[in-house]
Amino acid sequence: MRPDTSAPVRLEDYRAPAYRISTVHLDIRLAPRSAKVRARLALERASDTAPGTPLVLDGDDLRLTALSLDGRVLADGDYTVAPDRLEIVSPPTGPFTLEIETTLDPDANTKLMGLYRSNGTYCTQCEAEGFRRITYFLDRPDCLAVYTTRIEARVGEAPVLLGNGNPVESGPVPGTDRHYAIWHDPHPKPAYLFAMVAGDLACVSDSFRTCEGRDVALNIYVEHGNEGACDWAMDSLKRSMRWDEEVFGRAYDLDVFNIVAVSDFNMGAMENKGLNIFNDKYVLARPETATDQDYAGIETVIAHEYFHNWTGNRITCRDWFQLCLKEGLTVFRDQEFSADMRSRAVKRIADVRLLKSHQFPEDAGPLAHPVRPRLYHEINNFYTATVYEKGAEVVRMLKCLIGDEAFRAGMDLYFRRHDGEATTIEAFLACFQEASGLDLGQFSLWYEQAGTPVLKVDSVYEKEAGRLTLTFRQQLAPSPKQPDKKPMHIPVRVGLMGENDEELAPAAITGADTTGDVLHIRTPVQTVVFSGLTGRPVPSLLRGFSAPVSLKSDLNESDLLFLAAHDKDPFNRWEALQSVVMTALIAATAGAARQEAVTVSPALIAAFAANVADDSLEPAFRALCLQLPGEADIAREIGHDVDPDAVHAARTAFRRAIADDIAPTIRATYEAMRDEAEFSPDARSAGRRALRNTLLDYLGHGSDPAGNLLVQTHFEASDNMTDRFAALSVLTHAALPGRDAALAAYEERYRAVPLAMDKWFMVQATAPTASTLERVRQLTGHPAFSAGNPNRVRALIGAFASGNQSQFNRADGAGFDFVADFARDLDRRNPQAAARMMSAFRSWRALEPGRRAHAEAALRRLAAETDLSVDMRDIVERCLQ
Ligand code: ARG
Ligand code: ZN
Repeated sequence: MRPDTSAPVRLEDYRAPAYRISTVHLDIRLAPRSAKVRARLALERASDTAPGTPLVLDGDDLRLTALSLDGRVLADGDYTVAPDRLEIVSPPTGPFTLEIETTLDPDANTKLMGLYRSNGTYCTQCEAEGFRRITYFLDRPDCLAVYTTRIEARVGEAPVLLGNGNPVESGPVPGTDRHYAIWHDPHPKPAYLFAMVAGDLACVSDSFRTCEGRDVALNIYVEHGNEGACDWAMDSLKRSMRWDEEVFGRAYDLDVFNIVAVSDFNMGAMENKGLNIFNDKYVLARPETATDQDYAGIETVIAHEYFHNWTGNRITCRDWFQLCLKEGLTVFRDQEFSADMRSRAVKRIADVRLLKSHQFPEDAGPLAHPVRPRLYHEINNFYTATVYEKGAEVVRMLKCLIGDEAFRAGMDLYFRRHDGEATTIEAFLACFQEASGLDLGQFSLWYEQAGTPVLKVDSVYEKEAGRLTLTFRQQLAPSPKQPDKKPMHIPVRVGLMGENDEELAPAAITGADTTGDVLHIRTPVQTVVFSGLTGRPVPSLLRGFSAPVSLKSDLNESDLLFLAAHDKDPFNRWEALQSVVMTALIAATAGAARQEAVTVSPALIAAFAANVADDSLEPAFRALCLQLPGEADIAREIGHDVDPDAVHAARTAFRRAIADDIAPTIRATYEAMRDEAEFSPDARSAGRRALRNTLLDYLGHGSDPAGNLLVQTHFEASDNMTDRFAALSVLTHAALPGRDAALAAYEERYRAVPLAMDKWFMVQATAPTASTLERVRQLTGHPAFSAGNPNRVRALIGAFASGNQSQFNRADGAGFDFVADFARDLDRRNPQAAARMMSAFRSWRALEPGRRAHAEAALRRLAAETDLSVDMRDIVERCLQ
């Protein structure tokens, strides 16, 4: 944390470091309330640094206990030291060695940055700026050094000692009850990739032979008793390693790959070189405790962290403004991996749903920022959906615009040219420009301009001329600090569906450059003409969601329903139906605000019925088609003066109408989707469960008591977490009679399984009922609740704030006050977690005036506090700007 909380960091102020560190020797001696860290750094003045320039090292909350330079203890006048900074006043002009000893208290570290203890295990988290909480250092990603780490602890307390890279030696410390291990990482790396772990952990091992013939030992370390819950993570790891070889030509580069699962972790996981540390939520899975969604999440996150070994570690970021260079690209890679492991269409729909529900609102509110920001107060607040998910979309667009082959050539060039470097978005884009010959100047605006472009499309078909004219109009609204926007280079994948279910091929396309079926839209207004058409086309626009824009086409309901049934692009079939449903839900919301009854058009009911019963489609896809947009999605599309109670009422009535109108079809398919065999987490079985549980949601929310009763039966008969939790959710959210008994039975069963208890807290926090806030308040006093465990805090308070539209946004403002108060307390312990919680306020300006005033008052109350963390102040003040 920087002491001067008002001074932001700016991209244009970047300067290369004045000194370089080539090697780091760390000697870490662990004891419960004290860890002594001795760092020996080999330093050298950069050639363009004037001799005598002071060396300034970063620190955060550090206590210096010894300091020497080239073996001589430094005298008082030779340096100045503070918890956040160590300055060597006049370092030698040639290479020199600095030895720094700091003494830490891992138990007192509640921020979970730097060295801390999680359930007795010593572990570290250094990204973004945690290494400076371990020792004074040039804690910046462009300072690459070779690390050797010696770790020492009591054998009884920490039989397992892990570091980055390969193990070198280990053994007892003679005459003591202690032992040590030495690890060496030959690959130069920035400090944020440093890690160490020490604890009493169980280990599950396997091995992998790379395409280069290297035998790699794979280990997953977990708390004793969890050994049986690692199979899926291990399997996902091996599949990731193979996939990166096959698809990107990237092989692993050490003899060991270690993963450690810890229970207290601020984020999902961390790609430390050779020693990934994970939130255990993304490692542990058994059918009894993890849902299909959890299994999919594990597969994705294991892959993500593994893929960072090349995109992030071998090639890292020059500075933190380039965060998307590793994160956007690595998310893109993990999405492609999951698409190859599962159904590509289903994966794409899931990713776009996530993008729209998390990133679009961010882009539309006061926290909007470019994929590559230009300014920050606290970098931890930029691990956002924009940097990650929109960052991945930008890479996907690039691929779409230059084609698969040029994309692969560009990636190869990037790996060849920048291996071992800390680099920038410009350098990344230059590789693709060279590989494809396409000028990416305009495209690079995707990294610079915040906000979701609106793309309006009008179509005119002239039958006699056999011509379709599409007029594209792009608009990008102003966002914080960006009043004026330039037109973007938008890839629009297009197909033309003929009336007889076949694609129509135009003889010519004028008005846009094309790459295959992708149009390059570049100007504010662009008219594209398709000629030589033999019949009336229904344009299928933005296939596969080829750009992260808000598409407003002039297609009417019947064209959209035609596409929903016939489009050759499965993503657009889903999207077409969603867009009809969204229009209907927005109308229903307006109606609900006027106390009108909600009706669903017969054409829409028919489309739903057709989908439920269509066995030619994969069940996972049908499940997605049947899931209504969430309340937050509807609110986002309405965009202003939102009344969350009206949104909730409309959506609930809409779902009930469908459930009642097609009850027999729902019931029949629900029966048909019963488990065929023993539980398996594979995509096909998961898809059947997804469809069945989606239908269960309709059954539970319909008017037929027999349907309602099925939910309880489903809960009682379930033999896996997916089914059990699906039923528990419906029972709780529909407030069905079996609810309390089910919640009690679940609690009884899972008392000792923390990840399963998170779900129990979460399902109650997200119930859309007036008593929920009171219940959440009570649950903060439950013996299993702990403000020190980020997963538990996210499960209860985070889920209430971000996953319960109607209750967080209560008309009386009590939801806002509760979350603001909680975050305010949490901020004293864990600023990063508190700031993230407060981002739930990001859409407050889109609410109706009464709620808006309450939200603003809660934010202003926090802003007036004098001792907020930099993290919290940054979010609160940006929300208010
Ligand atoms: N690099 C990690 C990942 O996405 C995220 C670490 C973020 N940690 C943090 N404290 N901001 O894989
Ligand atoms: Zn990442």
